[in-house]
Amino acid sequence: MIRLNGALCRQLLVIALLVYCNKGFAQKLTEFRPTEVWPDDRGEHIQAHGGGITKIKDTYYWYGEERRKGLDSNKRYVSCYSSKDLMNWKFRKDVVQMTDPNNQGEGWVLERPKVFYNSKTKKYVMYFHLDNKSYKTASVGIAISDEPDGDYTFVKSFRPLGHESRDIGQFVDDDGTAYLIFEDRPYGFRIARLSEDYMDVEKEMCLISQHMEGGAIVHYKGLYYAIGSALTGWRANPNKYATAKSLEGPWSEFTDIAPPETNTYGSQSTLLLKVVGTKGTTILYLGDIWKPKTQWDSRYLWMPVEIGDGKLWLPAPKPFKLNIKTGLVTE
Ligand code: GAL
Repeated sequence: MIRLNGALCRQLLVIALLVYCNKGFAQKLTEFRPTEVWPDDRGEHIQAHGGGITKIKDTYYWYGEERRKGLDSNKRYVSCYSSKDLMNWKFRKDVVQMTDPNNQGEGWVLERPKVFYNSKTKKYVMYFHLDNKSYKTASVGIAISDEPDGDYTFVKSFRPLGHESRDIGQFVDDDGTAYLIFEDRPYGFRIARLSEDYMDVEKEMCLISQHMEGGAIVHYKGLYYAIGSALTGWRANPNKYATAKSLEGPWSEFTDIAPPETNTYGSQSTLLLKVVGTKGTTILYLGDIWKPKTQWDSRYLWMPVEIGDGKLWLPAPKPFKLNIKTGLVTE
């Protein structure tokens, strides 16, 4: 029999306590570490893939595809996290735990959820890509809630303005007008304004005749910048951007946002986030690094872009700090 003396016992007890206390409490992050595992407040890798961000007062909410292990394979889940600094995220809950709406059948798809807050109706309106296994339904679904992190109730699904819609993106302009960006396979990339209550897609602004997914737009110093990826499924490809003075176009030619041989450093765009501070504005590229066979381990590539005068460039991923108050990136 092993006999432990008093001092050793105490040491073991302290170690056990430390291990126990540490479990579930991640340390506060001090920098963004693109491509690495991104722990939430519980120390678990964030599950908000193909996501979108909604800012309410000084709180950011991040919604995305919940793809942790052990989910009920008949349901689809959307997670919600909150943060004040875009770096340290608290897991609120899975705000969607949905069973197949409108009979999509086995293997049905709920992807790229985006939440728009409507200040008139005070509703949180979630759009998502709703599809069947073979991506033939090609429609959007809407679910709503009274709280950012409430249980979202499914309302309806439809093809926006009668068009096919697969990957969707969200864009809210500086004047508060909300737009849906959607991929219409036969034709290209559409930008359309939402109705006043956000419960419908009301008016097409533009069809960009370029086949692009993961669409995202930012309005920066008088120009609109639109980015997207090519159609290669989960495989990364060189994402491209174009600019226009108005959403209706005309849009410039599309050019690479990063060295094409890096395939956007292995990522696919999902959002361009504008962080406006007291001293400056930073535009963050938000991308997904998909791992189709181990989706729960899919990573995120968030990086400040170099932007201005019609140019947009995504530098190679490296750790960075962002001061949310000043809006500036610091070393
Ligand atoms: C990607 C798309 C993803 C998902 C995937 C399925 O191109 O961006 O959201 O639909 O295809 O293969």
